[in-house]
Amino acid sequence: MNELAGKHIVLGLSGGVACYKAAELCRQLIKEGATVQVVMTQAAEQFITPVTMQALSGRTVYGSQWDAREPNNMPHINLSREADAILVAPCSADFIARLVQGRADELLSLLCLARPLQRVPLLLAPAMNREMWAHPATQRNLVQVAQDGAVILGVGSGDQACGETGDGRMLEPEELVEELVAFFAPKVLAGRKVLITAGPTFEALDPVRGITNLSSGKMGFAIARAAREAGADVTVVAGPVHVPTPRGVQRVNVQSALEMQAAVERHLQSASVFIATAAVADWRPAHASSQKIKKDGSGDAPTLAFVENPDILAAAAKSRQALEGHLFCVGFAAESHDLLAHATAKRVRKGVPLLVGNIGPATFGQDDNALLLVDSEGHRELPRASKRVLAKQLIEDIASRLPR
Ligand code: C5P
Repeated sequence: MNELAGKHIVLGLSGGVACYKAAELCRQLIKEGATVQVVMTQAAEQFITPVTMQALSGRTVYGSQWDAREPNNMPHINLSREADAILVAPCSADFIARLVQGRADELLSLLCLARPLQRVPLLLAPAMNREMWAHPATQRNLVQVAQDGAVILGVGSGDQACGETGDGRMLEPEELVEELVAFFAPKVLAGRKVLITAGPTFEALDPVRGITNLSSGKMGFAIARAAREAGADVTVVAGPVHVPTPRGVQRVNVQSALEMQAAVERHLQSASVFIATAAVADWRPAHASSQKIKKDGSGDAPTLAFVENPDILAAAAKSRQALEGHLFCVGFAAESHDLLAHATAKRVRKGVPLLVGNIGPATFGQDDNALLLVDSEGHRELPRASKRVLAKQLIEDIASRLPR
């Protein structure tokens, strides 16, 4: 989606098996619209050749501070000043130690040291064996480089090239791209806690059956990602959906409306924004059978009785926090027709300052959508676009409504 359009990234590779992932990372950065200048240490060249990285980035690779291609013979100055960010991936334990010491005897650490600290961020994607990662020296060095202004992107956990299993794997290329995109996003929700409900609920009839709806959770999770990118601390309470959790977002899985209500109550106290995108079932079976309901041979269908579910959003909007102006509540309305009239009425009924209308069949399961934002003043349309784009626009809109 060209999320990194106009960004120039210096992609630094230090020595490690994870260099093989740097090739894919480079490709994905370019697919997102970035230009990429690769710089490799000598150790990195043991794992992957500059030929591969040159072919993927479309630029010759730098590996030496004595590179005579630069007219002033100062690649460390020129390359660092052109960059919108320097991303070292993989970043070895040794390279972190070199950064801590401010070493400058090879090009990559030299250009990290020479970068204008205030203008050119340095992001590190560590990659190493789990014992090396857990070693007090590495942990001590990580604290120090972070204090010196580097951003540590974290590590993954799992099988390692050495045959061991644990923390220290480099994040996957798509995770690193997600982190970089998040890094560049304006931090309009910095310091805010955002709680989001997403997906459908599932109301059990018996151990194998229940009632649910076609909500996919995609809109709610897109909003969660955008809120996190905007600097918020985000929790999503999700009904049964198979949407991956965005990086840095806390996820609480629930099934029924009652479970969703309990989870929301647990997390609401500390929240300053509540966005209810979930398609909560209006009713649940009055008595869920503990055993599968069987046909009794009479030809008669069972009679099912329903009770109404609590309205999670309306309750949040009536909480003391919301009434005192410490919690901003946003509702969603999935309608099939007369969107403006229904959304306007629903906003008042739910007691929320902002209600977002959309057409149910046009959004459930889709990757794009169109939104109608209704507040006490009137309405504004967010025209059809991907849920990703709409989520960013909605978060920007919500942020502008919050008390400073
Ligand atoms: O009343 P309706 O279900 O159309 O309202 C939709 C809005 O209310 C959504 O924001 C939805 O998440 C929220 N809701 C809720 N609890 C319910 C029903 C709806 O939070 N029981």
